[in-house]
Amino acid sequence: MLLGEGDCGVPEIGQAAGWEVGGGQARHSDSVVSGCATADDSLDLCPRIRDKRFMNAFDAIVVGLAVAALISIVVTSLRVGISPMPSSRKAQKAIISAIPPNTHGPIFDLGSGWGNVIFSLARSFPLATIRGVELSPVPWAVSRIGASLFGYSNLDIQRGNFQDISLDDAEVVVCYLFPDGMTSLKTKFEEELKPNTLIVSNTFRLAGWEPEEVITLNDVHQTPIYRYRVPAK
Ligand SMILES: C[S@@+](CC[C@H](N)C(=O)[O-])C[C@H]1O[C@@H](n2cnc3c(N)ncnc32)[C@H](O)[C@@H]1O
Repeated sequence: MLLGEGDCGVPEIGQAAGWEVGGGQARHSDSVVSGCATADDSLDLCPRIRDKRFMNAFDAIVVGLAVAALISIVVTSLRVGISPMPSSRKAQKAIISAIPPNTHGPIFDLGSGWGNVIFSLARSFPLATIRGVELSPVPWAVSRIGASLFGYSNLDIQRGNFQDISLDDAEVVVCYLFPDGMTSLKTKFEEELKPNTLIVSNTFRLAGWEPEEVITLNDVHQTPIYRYRVPAK
């Protein structure tokens, strides 16, 4: 058998003519030309086999990490009651238009997901501090990497439960949650937010509160964006 430069002679052990496989070793009647010496040596030395083994190990690590990330996202979504589905571009634009341009104080995104909304906020309100809070580890990590890559200096992303953080200094609170999530936040808003603080909620209303404005998106769901003001105490 003639082998080209760089070939190892054992492209598929047991398939190539002249190879015998047995006892965990492959043998060939001819000595191999360049690249690999004998088949005994080639199992350890052949660059092609080594590369293939490396690629198999690399593929296994990538697939393992992807599966672990997926499991983490699913488990956390079941735990908190919502997936990290990002706000649409139209919703992001509407959220930004609902916030006064001269906002200086902290803007919170409660459940900041992959970071789509906080990145838009960081660009649109360079004088304000944008605070994202996200419980799910994978979206949180991705948003941290994105924030570093984009180099936002006015963005702070915490991993944790937004129920455990103080909203005392918030000037604006943004959220895109689900009905029970909004109910659980209502008490926190009433206890912690200063009067006149702005709340902008994508899709879900705050039961019992009267919005000062509802923006209806021109999308298939006619998605509402609710704008509330914390009433005087
Ligand atoms: C629908 S996503 C919205 C993401 C982002 N705010 C946006 O609009 O693109 C809701 C996010 O809230 C997060 N979340 C839900 N409950 C949470 C909690 N108690 N603390 C922190 N994050 C929470 C979920 O993990 C999910 O990533």
